[in-house]
Amino acid sequence: MTQTTLFDPLELGATTLRNRVVMAPMTRARTTQPGNIPNELMAEYYAQRADAGLIVSEATQISQQGQGYSFTPGIFSADQIAGWRTVTDRVHAAGGKIFLQLWHVGRVSHPVFHNGQPPVAPSAIQPKDTQVWIVGDDGVGRMVDCPMPRALSADEIGGIIADFRKGAANAIAAGFDGVEVHGGNGYLVDQFLRGVSNQRTDQYGGSRDNRTRFLVELMTALADEVGADKVGVRLAPYITFKDMTDPDIVPTILHAAEKLDPLGLAYIHLSEADWDDAPVIPEDFRHELRRLFHGKIIVAGGYDKQRAEVILAKGLADLVAFGRPFVANPDLPRRLARDLPLAQPDGASLFGGNHLGYTDYPAYA
Ligand SMILES: Cc1cc2nc3c(=O)[nH]c(=O)nc-3n(C[C@H](O)[C@H](O)[C@H](O)COP(=O)(O)O)c2cc1C
Repeated sequence: MTQTTLFDPLELGATTLRNRVVMAPMTRARTTQPGNIPNELMAEYYAQRADAGLIVSEATQISQQGQGYSFTPGIFSADQIAGWRTVTDRVHAAGGKIFLQLWHVGRVSHPVFHNGQPPVAPSAIQPKDTQVWIVGDDGVGRMVDCPMPRALSADEIGGIIADFRKGAANAIAAGFDGVEVHGGNGYLVDQFLRGVSNQRTDQYGGSRDNRTRFLVELMTALADEVGADKVGVRLAPYITFKDMTDPDIVPTILHAAEKLDPLGLAYIHLSEADWDDAPVIPEDFRHELRRLFHGKIIVAGGYDKQRAEVILAKGLADLVAFGRPFVANPDLPRRLARDLPLAQPDGASLFGGNHLGYTDYPAYA
């Protein structure tokens, strides 16, 4: 029996991937202003990384209400769709595949993005010790506390699902191979999943079935809009940052996986850590997820080549996503394949700025 490696091709829903190395979604805040519009610089950055089997784009707000940080891209205006078309054309010309990550931040936001109004959330609960990055009129970026959000009405929840649906349709119109819903890391979908941020008394809060309702309705709508084989979802069962500690989240996510399974989605993408801020996921959880969900599984968070090959060999994941290693190594798949040394990223140029620390990392000579 030959063992699956990172460099074997894979059918991911409707998309054929040339290897199992995924570029993880990474916010880099380099859109053109005003309007949060993707541009040539971003097209260059993604095209440089097109040797990945799959690129998942940086998180992209599906509406103005969905924005929580400065300069992140959108997928709701005509200019944004046209800007993304430049990106997908360049990636495809380089032989790559790219999904767009659809995003609504919920309470992880600030009135500066909402005409002075509070951000929205499942319930009016302010996240402790949670900040967003906002660039002021002086051009300087600062971390700012997230204020008390306003609870969404049931009607508004339907409106947000409609915004996601439009975002997915726009993404396909912009040339993406598929879409991934950002359902982790403390943002709106995750806020619905957890009792710590969701204390609703209607059909969207309380029981596991109710807390997973928003996610399931959302994924059902997207599968209907663009086809389930072009849709994946990112979930973060073991993270606790952004004030998201919740003792019921692991069984809730397994419950969600079971309810999502009949839709035939392309994949679940486990966000195992944002930086180094989550425990290693226990194997029991991985086995249980495999039992309940029959689509592909992507894992991300602190993987190197060796850890990646081990989890593939055990059959507990189908693809492995790399975040920070892709920042400074545009040719990461080749470096991994040939065991070439990896360059280290510069932390100061991750968010905002120009080509420096973005498109100027060279391929290995
Ligand atoms: C600069 C930066 C930006 C990120 N932005 C996003 C994002 O937009 N969406 C998301 O789901 N995860 C985001 N993440 C998390 C990464 O996708 C990934 O899960 C994380 O970096 C851990 O993987 P790594 O150890 O390979 O870097 C970000 C991480 C970094 C370092």
